[in-house]
Amino acid sequence: MNFFHVHENEMWCEEVPVRRIAEDVGTPFYLYSYRTLKRHYQVFDEAFRQVPHIVCFSAKANSNVAILRTLISEGGGIDIVSGGELFRALKAGADPRKIVYSGVGKREEEIVSALDAGILMFNIESFQELEVIDRIAGGMGKKAPIAIRVNPDVDPMTHPHISTGLKENKFGINIEKSLDTYRKASSLKHIDIIGVDCHIGSQITDITPFLDALERLKKLITLLRQEGIPVHYLDLGGGLGITYNLETPPHPSDYAGAIIERAGDLGVTFILEPGRVIVGNAGILVTRVLYTKSHEDKNFIIIDAGMNDLIRPSLYGSYHFIQPVSPRGDGKVQADVVGPICESGDFLAKKRILPDARRGDLLAVMSAGAYGFTMASNYNSRPRIAEVLVRDGGYFVIRDREAYRDLVRGEHIPDFLADGTGKKL
Ligand code: LLP
Repeated sequence: MNFFHVHENEMWCEEVPVRRIAEDVGTPFYLYSYRTLKRHYQVFDEAFRQVPHIVCFSAKANSNVAILRTLISEGGGIDIVSGGELFRALKAGADPRKIVYSGVGKREEEIVSALDAGILMFNIESFQELEVIDRIAGGMGKKAPIAIRVNPDVDPMTHPHISTGLKENKFGINIEKSLDTYRKASSLKHIDIIGVDCHIGSQITDITPFLDALERLKKLITLLRQEGIPVHYLDLGGGLGITYNLETPPHPSDYAGAIIERAGDLGVTFILEPGRVIVGNAGILVTRVLYTKSHEDKNFIIIDAGMNDLIRPSLYGSYHFIQPVSPRGDGKVQADVVGPICESGDFLAKKRILPDARRGDLLAVMSAGAYGFTMASNYNSRPRIAEVLVRDGGYFVIRDREAYRDLVRGEHIPDFLADGTGKKL
């Protein structure tokens, strides 16, 4: 459920007409609904109320500090995968004791910052990483709290680029090897084993893969405890899917209910790392039609947003519902909705039946709150777009549109390239 709706031929975000924001801030821009964000967080959190748990929002889905802050103020923690995300999480006011840190390639300076901050735990993805963290923690006179990210080898039945829990994926440590890795970890002086972690993939629309993974983790937890290795936390990662088009993912309460039932009396604090399910349908991309054209039997709607702003359709063939911000009730057209980037892969929709669009019309690209802005780039030297948060009847620019000067920030023309007058940039 979200708070974007069409009423009397106008699209609204909560109590604000989307058109008004577009006129004020220009297009394209990402638009988020505060009420939707809060609701999604609360529904998810509430679903796990029967068991001790921490909801750590996955910052990679949307890392704007205002979005993080919104979820933190609801009691959420943050799931991070880089020093940059740690920086953002702390800036947004996250409690370090609710930060979990995953990722196959943690750099030494990132490990130092996380130890300095006092995060809840590192999710370890290789034995070498464990050794490095042990050494660094020792040097800092600390013990590093860890879980091992176990790869349970289950098929999440999602897009291959976003499935992570199969043997062939680079993530985690194979479940068969993990007991051995835990044993080795328990011999390291500056490592404090506190849990088990897994994340099997993203946009998962069926409960079965989650339960299959849990089943395997339960067995591992029993074996670990038999050897006296403590497991206080069970991090089940993120991955719950959302409706972009016709998908029917489980409701968070069904997902949580099934997990709680299957877990039985495990005596752990659950950690969940939802991203998409919290923010995906709490955000849209608002764009303006620049031109329309037809050749042969094809129609093109050329918009001012491109694959650099929202790469999901180009990268994964993802579907985003597109609708006019001010529907006219005219005829329909089948068209490719394409951006201004010089690549044929630059599209937001292909062969889509849409209300007839004209130059100047505003379109809303729905379900764009997750992995939208965070995956944006400056390709074709396009400044990254603004982000706006609506709350009740007001709206707030939570990220300025980049200016051209931002495009060259940090670039330098070395002396040998200066012109005759010594002039550089
Ligand atoms: N935890 C870990 C360790 C993850 O790798 C991910 C996502 C999450 C949590 C959050 O998963 P979610 O609840 O959002 O499904 N760019 C792709 C999605 C990549 C997901 C990567 N990992 C997309 O646009 O669909």
